[in-house]
Amino acid sequence: MKAVRLALCALCFVSAGLVDGSQKKAAPARAPALAPRPQIGATPPMGWNSWNYFKERVDDATVRAQADAMVASGMRDAGYVYVNIDDTWEGQRDAGGVLQPNNKFPDMKALADYVHSKGLKLGIYSSPGPKTCARYEGSYGHEEIDAQTWANWGIDYLKYDLCGLREMMRAAESPEAAHTMMIDAYIKMRDALKKTGRPMVYSLCQYGNDAVWQWGESVGGNLWRTTGDITDRYAKMAEIGFSQAGLAQYAKPGHWNDPDMLEVGNGGMNADEYRTHMSLWAILAAPLLAGNDLTKMTPETIALLTNKEVIAIDQDPAGKQGDRVWAEGPKEIWTRPLAGGAKALGLFNRHHAPLPMQADFARLGFSGAVKVRDVWAAKDLGQMTAPYKATVPGHGVVLLRVSK
Ligand code: GLA
Repeated sequence: MKAVRLALCALCFVSAGLVDGSQKKAAPARAPALAPRPQIGATPPMGWNSWNYFKERVDDATVRAQADAMVASGMRDAGYVYVNIDDTWEGQRDAGGVLQPNNKFPDMKALADYVHSKGLKLGIYSSPGPKTCARYEGSYGHEEIDAQTWANWGIDYLKYDLCGLREMMRAAESPEAAHTMMIDAYIKMRDALKKTGRPMVYSLCQYGNDAVWQWGESVGGNLWRTTGDITDRYAKMAEIGFSQAGLAQYAKPGHWNDPDMLEVGNGGMNADEYRTHMSLWAILAAPLLAGNDLTKMTPETIALLTNKEVIAIDQDPAGKQGDRVWAEGPKEIWTRPLAGGAKALGLFNRHHAPLPMQADFARLGFSGAVKVRDVWAAKDLGQMTAPYKATVPGHGVVLLRVSK
């Protein structure tokens, strides 16, 4: 099989627009020092979303129970913050055009207050079309009033899912006109959210069409889906995750590629496969939105979701997405540059049976001896100069943190 060697993309190192001292102007003399305003999505959003497991069964009681479990399981303390209601919460508009939740959600403001009281944030879902993907009421023609309604409730995050607008786009005169219609729709909601004055994460969901990574930031997206829907199967998760090569240059603090929500804990993959899922998403600087029932987690699922070192890779403050640097048949090596000159290194085996792999640190940009830690094994492997050799489990990964 032909060995493919992909150079680490130089653009991954472009200035990341961090909210830090480098961007602040000198304050005029005697003016009180202002604390830096935290940037929305400075690191990839972490939380939970109702869709993957609950689909249309999500209701008020479910959301409260997930918030409770997020705290009790230690997920909140590990960094998971957003509790996101996906499609099927929407009811009808009242005479004034204000969208009401349906009878599964008796009082959204009270729900938001409850979620906030746990130190968490509440997210919601809508569509730029007249209908959502599940054929509930969308925001078309009601963008400002909907944004204001969500702000009044205390919503902190919006996933804006194209679906319903696609029917209208199909009727457009040309593909260019359809594209413009979509861009305008995302800009319209960006402006409506801004007008409310309430900070809300703006999550674009249009399945990665029209190279959204090239324009997602310009329409205000804090994250944008890069693919179709994930499922709780290794083949689908791997197809999505490993197809993200080449997108690193488009991610930076405040603006992330989103290869869709997590399936960890839903039961369709084994532990090695879920470790691949978590490791790849961390290297990709992907949002970590759990998609399982947090009230029914095994200790193994909690350990997968709350592994501090894996989360630290995902949330690395430099905010640089990783990329594939080498592939040969089913073996792939991905690296992510981390703050302070370290690197996360994933040795992935996409074959179903174990395979030997090796990481040659010299060829991965290190000179001399490096310090190596096996992240999932939580084990320091010591100083190394020679290539590191490991047998990687089928569909599994060895995730390393390498530093000088
Ligand atoms: C689309 C999205 C999913 C989910 C459903 C809800 O398929 O990609 O993530 O939001 O709609 O209907």
